[in-house]
Amino acid sequence: MIQKMTENTSPNTLKYPVLTQALSATLEWYTDQGIDMLLGETPRTHIQEKSQNHLSDSVATQAPIKPVITAAPPPPSALPQDKILGAAEAIIEAEKLAASCTILGELQSAIASFEGLSVRKTATNMVFSDGNKEARVMLIGEAPGADEDRQGKPFVGMSGQLLDKILGCIDLNRKSEDPQKSVYISNILNWRPPGNRTPTDAEIDISMPFIKRHIALIQPEILILCGGVSAKSLLGRTEGISRLRGKFQDYEMTTIEGETIHIPTIATYHPAYLLRTPLQKRAVWHDMLMVKERLA
Ligand code: URA
Repeated sequence: MIQKMTENTSPNTLKYPVLTQALSATLEWYTDQGIDMLLGETPRTHIQEKSQNHLSDSVATQAPIKPVITAAPPPPSALPQDKILGAAEAIIEAEKLAASCTILGELQSAIASFEGLSVRKTATNMVFSDGNKEARVMLIGEAPGADEDRQGKPFVGMSGQLLDKILGCIDLNRKSEDPQKSVYISNILNWRPPGNRTPTDAEIDISMPFIKRHIALIQPEILILCGGVSAKSLLGRTEGISRLRGKFQDYEMTTIEGETIHIPTIATYHPAYLLRTPLQKRAVWHDMLMVKERLA
């Protein structure tokens, strides 16, 4: 939308060239910061508003300024505990909900109705999955971006196009109806974090029960984890993606029937990283050849 506004050449653009230039620069700056959506006419800072409202009330009535008596702040130890409790409660709720889902449709509805993630409120659409649920290969990215948020499908933007080319090199295609040649795609988070920021640790932890159940319901033969967020969270590791990629590792999971199994899993660089660092395509090519060998 912002792009459209900057491209628009109205009669006013010609009449006020300097103003138009300044507005375009502002809009460009917004898009560079990842702000690509308008939620209201004017920017608002709720914390400041509170104190300003208080101030303007006193000025308008010309009443003498009285000392403001506020409630005693909570003891420092209470704050972090409250926060942790919020996330902990959301994780428990997510675990219960996820465990109750025995088919994909149920999981999709459960995620859509789950209120424990604030990114749900800023996103336009939930992004659940794409591809063939019978596929031998399941691929998991990080979180939807702006294009995915608009279309409600994972990996449909620039990095998605590169991902399709990469998968095509090993004869995999998300549109294929043949389970041998298809791939099933999802993300750790089902909602776009505002401004495409990296998901927080709490958001990842809260989303974990859902993506784990998603994997259990698909039960693929091979898992591909795209990028550090996906690799670290699902493999339960702290090393960076450069160390985690390039080798098959076991992803341990519990099936719907309650059995513990191990799925051969390979981590690789995220296509968005490859768009910025094309030299690393070589490493991804290596990883994909390993997948092809396994499938054969
Ligand atoms: N990046 C991701 O990790 N997932 C998407 O769906 C799109 C971009």
